[in-house]
Amino acid sequence: MKKIQLIAGRSHPELAEEISKLLKVPLTPVDCKCFADGEMYVRIKDKVRGNDVYVIQSMCAPANDRLMETLIMIDALRRASAGRINLICPYLCYSRQDRKAASREAITAKLVANLITKAGADRLVTVDLHADQIQGFYDIPVDHFVGYPLFAKYLKAKKMLGNTVIVSPDIGGVKKADKMADMLGLKLAIIDKVRKAHDTAEVTHVVGDVEGKRAIIVDDVISTGGSVCVASEILKKMGAKEVIVCATHGVLSGNPKELFDNSSIDQILLTNSIPIPEEKISKKMKIVSLGPLLAKIIKRVSKERSLGELFTWEDKKQSL
Ligand code: R5P
Repeated sequence: MKKIQLIAGRSHPELAEEISKLLKVPLTPVDCKCFADGEMYVRIKDKVRGNDVYVIQSMCAPANDRLMETLIMIDALRRASAGRINLICPYLCYSRQDRKAASREAITAKLVANLITKAGADRLVTVDLHADQIQGFYDIPVDHFVGYPLFAKYLKAKKMLGNTVIVSPDIGGVKKADKMADMLGLKLAIIDKVRKAHDTAEVTHVVGDVEGKRAIIVDDVISTGGSVCVASEILKKMGAKEVIVCATHGVLSGNPKELFDNSSIDQILLTNSIPIPEEKISKKMKIVSLGPLLAKIIKRVSKERSLGELFTWEDKKQSL
């Protein structure tokens, strides 16, 4: 069997450390720095020849730097004859630019796919792409995981699934919310959200019954926080007694902490796909770690074992 090597980009050292501890595989040292003119330099400090290498990098802000660092890292690994280069990227930048919504726009998610593939990645492991079809932008295997089973597990453990309805915050999120509702045997409600300009969200009505219920909003990303705050407002107006937001990626542009603290949302569950600095953590937030799931994925990929079992949410203890 090929030797596993873990290499951390600079975006999320805590997550890389957590995975390394769980797998009992040390992180391979890397020299990553910027020259005075801003150009990046990467050198892998150990041999990688023939090995099964896992680059752990979340492409969060500053996304362009993280993307470039990843590409350079993959190039360095390829030129050093790594046996297989697996990119473990819990948050893939530009996923929301997956189609032309207006004329003369780019499809940046496809451009990113071309760059990652061309640099030499052999596999991409990621979580909650904004649109499932982005998988098809890659001509390499893509293992696309979702965050909602982790939230379901957490909510079940806290006995927070009774008298509950799952809510999609917009039409685009219906499929994901419906899957979570189906998995939990709960009903679905849908919010009609419109964006009249970038980074603004307006809600007109809710389809489905939320009165007297706990409403769990499921979304892939919280960026400015506007979508989930207006969603919570209308849900409460329609009689929901509690609003919980489950979002995989806490992009948290600007700093919506105050917005959340003053909002009608009761609790926000995020994963650590993106590191969340102390000053952005609202008292309503709870962070669920992706570390154990990613460690299991790496272990199974390295042993050429199926990943299907990892998509479930039940309390079965899945081995590394
Ligand atoms: C939109 O389609 C996404 O699923 C999120 O709802 C959106 O990106 C969140 O953005 P914001 O927090 O800025 O409203």
